[in-house]
Amino acid sequence: MQQPQPVTSMPAPVPVDMLGRGHSAQFSPARPFTDEEHGTWAAILALHRPRRQAQIVSIFPDGVAKLAMDGERIPSLDDINGRLAALTGWRGVYVKGLEDGNAFYPLLRDRYFPIGNFVRDRKDLNYTPAPDIVHDLYGHLPFHADRAYADYCQRYGEFACQFLGDPVRLQRLERYFWFTIEFGLVKTPAGRRIFGAGIASSVGECAYALSDQPEVRPFDVEAICARDYRVDEMQKVLFELESPEQLYQSFSKLKACVQA
Ligand SMILES: [Fe+2]
Repeated sequence: MQQPQPVTSMPAPVPVDMLGRGHSAQFSPARPFTDEEHGTWAAILALHRPRRQAQIVSIFPDGVAKLAMDGERIPSLDDINGRLAALTGWRGVYVKGLEDGNAFYPLLRDRYFPIGNFVRDRKDLNYTPAPDIVHDLYGHLPFHADRAYADYCQRYGEFACQFLGDPVRLQRLERYFWFTIEFGLVKTPAGRRIFGAGIASSVGECAYALSDQPEVRPFDVEAICARDYRVDEMQKVLFELESPEQLYQSFSKLKACVQA
């Protein structure tokens, strides 16, 4: 006689409160990470820890502390989300990989940030061709613990959602996101600091961005919306904000450039 199969329950890949809201992202269920994956996380944070206060705009190290993300193991996303949601209403949500604009911007609109549910290879401590959990969870989420930054990203997502399915305008929005949220620099009273999560999550990119190698240009909405970029090399040109508020207050210019 055949024995009844045990009932197993898989974690739902889509957070319950997102069901029925039209999200097209490729969600991924939470999973246990291997010791090798935890080790890669720990190795990258060990390289970063002594440098980030001096290299990255203060909202980043402040966010790492607020979210208690600085441990030796990949933190539980539920734990991080509990702290982050209490601060700014944002949450991370696991996805399989890079999302295109049509899936990405509705997430931002609803205060969700996609987190690639995989860890780069141990040999790629300094660079990952695809955004992994180190880039997304460690590189991006601490910024979202800052209220002004968090509100700006939500407005950005809401604005971008007007242009889903419009490749020309989505490209302008992606360029803008790339040169600010991912690869921006910012002036501070203490000197030039990294503002972009794409730089912040890489020790090598941090050193390069603050060296005299890249050409640093003043923040310019029109120039950014018109500028192509490559994802497979260090950025030859970076843009520097006068302050984070310059970005947060650039919406009317952005609207004009994207809608032109
Ligand atoms: Fe990113």
